[in-house]
Amino acid sequence: MKYWERFTVEGLVCVVTGAASGIGLAYCEVMAEAGARVVLLDIDAVQLQAQVARLTAAGFNVRSEVVDATDRAAMYQCFERIGQYYGRLDIVFANAGIDAGPGFLDTDGQRCAEGALENLEEHDWDKVLATNLTAVFTTLRAAVRLMKPQGHGRVIVTTSNAAVLNEAIVGTPYMPAKAGAAALVRQAAMELARYGINVNAIAPGPFVTNIAGGRLRNAADRAAFAQRVPQHRIADTEEIKGLALFLASPASSYVTGAQIVIDGGQMLGRVD
Ligand SMILES: NC(=O)c1ccc[n+]([C@@H]2O[C@H](COP(=O)([O-])OP(=O)(O)OC[C@H]3O[C@@H](n4cnc5c(N)ncnc54)[C@H](O)[C@@H]3O)[C@@H](O)[C@H]2O)c1
Repeated sequence: MKYWERFTVEGLVCVVTGAASGIGLAYCEVMAEAGARVVLLDIDAVQLQAQVARLTAAGFNVRSEVVDATDRAAMYQCFERIGQYYGRLDIVFANAGIDAGPGFLDTDGQRCAEGALENLEEHDWDKVLATNLTAVFTTLRAAVRLMKPQGHGRVIVTTSNAAVLNEAIVGTPYMPAKAGAAALVRQAAMELARYGINVNAIAPGPFVTNIAGGRLRNAADRAAFAQRVPQHRIADTEEIKGLALFLASPASSYVTGAQIVIDGGQMLGRVD
């Protein structure tokens, strides 16, 4: 076997949450292209149906279920059905996530009253923590119930470089939610290593997706985010596929508990 042939997921069963758009959709595309059977989970029934139709027409082996990742009972039932249908679960991307309302600075550097700590909507805090942290816990538990008995599995959580690097133009609840998800990845990786389950995080910087109402498609926002990145640009979701394939495939067998940052150098600091 040539070494590069380890970068394969041929025949494996892969589940992706938040699969109908952006980074999750890119994970689905690369997994399907590399031969996995992919189950797309999302709360958005319309987008989900459209993407599954597109991937099916392209000849890929995909299925989908509309499910809210924050609905614990629905998630556990959904994973049980997946286990019954395929008789195995190899790879899970816990990816569903939302933004957190305005940051305490606008993109032009002015203070934003709505994003100030004393004015933040409490329901924004609750929703962001429920989606970006608690739903990762739920997804991980649902996955582990199937993976532990089979003695292998890969769980990959989409965190953010905001798990480490604080950001004034992103809503405040986002940072603690992502930092919590990153800590959960490390803790789960320690616990699950003996069962052959690797747990890792992908921590993106700014990628053009539909998050925050598609804010990164807007010129002013793009410029504000891009100027924080040494590569001076925002990424396309195509650029996350290589890392996703690496972490899902046998090529990353000794990688667990890692958070791999993919952010054009943003973590290194600003370079004009
Ligand atoms: N785009 C970026 O710049 C960026 C940077 C760092 C981290 N991330 C993270 O990447 C992940 C994917 O975000 P994206 O940028 O692709 O956004 P996106 O909005 O394009 O896609 C997110 C998908 O998740 C789905 N979703 C939202 N809440 C859900 C729920 N409760 N249950 C099921 N599905 C749900 C949405 O319907 C959507 O299809 C998120 O965790 C986000 O925090 C994104």
